[in-house]
Amino acid sequence: MNEPLINLIDIYKIYRMGSTEVRANDGISLKIYPGEFVAIVGKSGSGKSTIMNIIGALDVPTEGQYILNGEDVSTLKGDELAEIRNKTIGFIFQQYNLLARQTLLENVELPLLYAGVSRRKRKELAMAALDRVGIKDKYKNFPNQLSGGQQQRGSIARALVGNPSLILADEPTGALDSKTSREVLDFLQQLNEEGNTIVLITHDHSIAEEANRVVSLKDGKVDFDGGVEEYRRNRT
Ligand SMILES: Nc1ncnc2c1ncn2[C@@H]1O[C@H](COP(=O)(O)OP(=O)(O)OP(=O)(O)O)[C@@H](O)[C@H]1O
Ligand SMILES: [Mg+2]
Repeated sequence: MNEPLINLIDIYKIYRMGSTEVRANDGISLKIYPGEFVAIVGKSGSGKSTIMNIIGALDVPTEGQYILNGEDVSTLKGDELAEIRNKTIGFIFQQYNLLARQTLLENVELPLLYAGVSRRKRKELAMAALDRVGIKDKYKNFPNQLSGGQQQRGSIARALVGNPSLILADEPTGALDSKTSREVLDFLQQLNEEGNTIVLITHDHSIAEEANRVVSLKDGKVDFDGGVEEYRRNRT
């Protein structure tokens, strides 16, 4: 078997608030392999955003080890984390996080700018990514000149443009109507069929069932980890 892309080994994230402590992640171990489509699901406060921040190299655990793409990132500092993050991960957020003062094209080019890609190559790759998500003709628009669904496609294009090893989506359909949500989920499935590894964070069971494997969190611990069929059976 090949190496896991994500290897979380006994991860704890503990917040101390005066005399009380909150165990936001309370001993999570998880391996995710290249090509998987995994949903991490759980109720509000179960620790989803906390583990997503660790998986996304936005934060480090209090205790435990995180091996991302063969590299131990659990002890890295800000700059080093940022570099790995930019190289390895494409993010899709609920609120799109497109920069308001930049055009759609400039927004999609951003990860390439950080990666030091030349101007010409940036434009070429960004236009190709916009074409893939079907909004190439809007490249000159600013985010407020796009519909919610178009903004989310833009953020997907931005996530894809650097050809990352992992696509990490946090409630990507949280702000979308049901038809646009369907389009975004279909697109994520298509990306997975093309070989991309996807981790989708959601509080919604029915959205979790779009993945192939479901990891359910409860009180900062893994409560269930298995195939989507088994997950569905356990729920009903
Ligand atoms: N910076 C922090 N300081 C103290 N406690 C925190 C901090 N961040 C998160 N927590 C606590 O850790 C627990 C897990 O929070 P987390 O944000 O991971 O939940 P979540 O599953 O993402 O919830 P939601 O679905 O509401 O976004 C919660 O009890 C929360 O109050
Ligand atoms: Mg959250």
